Amino acid sequence: MNSNLPSVAKPDILLVDDNPKNLRLLQMMLNDAGYKVRTILNGKLALRAVEIVKPDLILLDINMPGMDGYEVCQKLKSQEQTVDIPIIFISALNDIYDKVKAFEIGGVDYITKPFEVQEVLVRVKNQLLICQQKKQLQEKNEQLQLLERAIAASSNGIVITDAKKPDNPVIYVNPGFEQITGYRKEEIMGKNCRFLQGDDFTQPALEELRQAIKQKRACDVRLRNYRQDGTLFWNDFSISPVRDSLGTLTHYIGIQRDITALKQAEEALRKSEAQFRDKAQELELTLDELKSAQAQLVQKAKMASLGQLLAGVAHEINNPVGFIYSNIEPAIGYVQDLLELIALYQKSEPLTSGEIKNKIQDIELDFIQEDFPKLLASIQEGASRIMKIVLSLRHFSHHNEANKKSVDLHQEIETNLMILGNHLKAKSHRGAIEVIREYGELPLVECYPSELNQVFMNILSNAVDALEEKMLENYSLTPQIRISTEVVKADEGDPEIGRRGDTGTRRRGDEEMGETKETIPNSQITKDKQQTTNNKVIIRITDNGTGIPLQLKQRVFDPFFTTKPVGKGTGLGLSIS
Ligand SMILES: Cc1cc2nc3c(=O)[nH]c(=O)nc-3n(C[C@H](O)[C@H](O)[C@H](O)COP(=O)(O)O)c2cc1C
Repeated sequence: MNSNLPSVAKPDILLVDDNPKNLRLLQMMLNDAGYKVRTILNGKLALRAVEIVKPDLILLDINMPGMDGYEVCQKLKSQEQTVDIPIIFISALNDIYDKVKAFEIGGVDYITKPFEVQEVLVRVKNQLLICQQKKQLQEKNEQLQLLERAIAASSNGIVITDAKKPDNPVIYVNPGFEQITGYRKEEIMGKNCRFLQGDDFTQPALEELRQAIKQKRACDVRLRNYRQDGTLFWNDFSISPVRDSLGTLTHYIGIQRDITALKQAEEALRKSEAQFRDKAQELELTLDELKSAQAQLVQKAKMASLGQLLAGVAHEINNPVGFIYSNIEPAIGYVQDLLELIALYQKSEPLTSGEIKNKIQDIELDFIQEDFPKLLASIQEGASRIMKIVLSLRHFSHHNEANKKSVDLHQEIETNLMILGNHLKAKSHRGAIEVIREYGELPLVECYPSELNQVFMNILSNAVDALEEKMLENYSLTPQIRISTEVVKADEGDPEIGRRGDTGTRRRGDEEMGETKETIPNSQITKDKQQTTNNKVIIRITDNGTGIPLQLKQRVFDPFFTTKPVGKGTGLGLSIS
């Protein structure tokens, strides 16, 4: 069998000749060569045989009785199903006219009788090969047409450049490319695609693309490109190299995907996400503010009723203490007189009555004479202190109003220290807390005194708590609270704020009576008491207690933040102001 022909099925050859001798000879020869052969003696039967099984090739005699070879050929070439069957004429006619006619009516070859066996075999083989290649070509063509349609139908841009020529000129673009870029095929052919970049040729993605082209490899990048009308489009772009059978680079295929709409949608989504986030944050803030306002209202209401109570109590105590205090001075005078009288009497009249003598001994008159004035002096001191406390309470409650007022901050601080006095005194487990005042010259400051007093009170009582805690670990510590004040220019901050061991919110310890140790320099207030506008007053209250852990420092102004047990602290000490 012929090695160049498909081995799966033997090619089917139809032999048509009215000479049985010729037929036999040809049949034998072709069978030997590996072909399947059918033999037919006239034209009519030949047409019938083709109708039954379509042969791969026909060897056709011209001179036959009835229907000659030309007529058979014409009939077969006139029908769609049989037009492609290759027909080789085999005839004794050697005239050029016959040969030309044979080719004109569709014959593919012409063999003259008497024929050479080898010649017939070669010509048959050639025609079968040509026929096979024709079929393959046709199939390839159909495939190509299909691909061409697919490329044309793609909404992506497809561009092919000739990599063998300098600067990669474009040799093909599909309609998708024209659609995306707005350029027509004719304008682009032979050019390099960089014209799509306009003046935007420094974008980082281009460097990657240049490297890929230099290294003759594939690459995916996202480029900013410009249409013919100058508008920007985002080009999600890839190139892949095409190589020949020797591996030499011949072409590049570039695919352009216009992702402008996607980019815009992404951007819009990003913006709306950011807006939602902002809104959520705003809502959270508003909620916090509401909570804080509510808490402040509650606190204010509490303080208002506490203030009223304090004012009432102070008023009630004030009068009786006033009686005691104002009567004590004359009482001391009277007692002094009486004691002097008794002394005179004892000197001038010697004691005769045993009853009086006994009484003097019983009551220890000597001791009374010595101790009574001291006792009265200490009553006077006590009454004086009660008066001061009452005064402070009245002062404290007096501020319980919502309006701004000009106040002397030192006086406010002192009032708070006075109220806290008992907590500052020495206890069984620790010495007195020393209050060091470093007061600067302050003007009257316009503020909400009630809120400010709460802040002072909270900071100072927290300082006491912090010192109590520290003293548990270190008994030898001298507990100190340092209060300093100064005026600074409005645009100056306090460089030390946030650095010192400021007081935080803490648990309160047990209390016992004791002495208060204080260093009290004169409070200095500017003489004219004028308010200094555009200046700031800095009040620093520090203690040498446990300090505030770093991670809690930034939270001291957060409303409701407290380290105290539930019910002990409001967490509003600083935020309230
Ligand atoms: C097949 C192919 C298609 C290309 N298509 C584009 C394109 O659509 N847009 C673009 O900005 N550059 C495209 N380029 C890249 C440019 O042609 C050029 O290679 C790039 O600008 C880097 O070279 P340059 O620095 O000389 O300009 C393509 C390149 C090739 C090989």
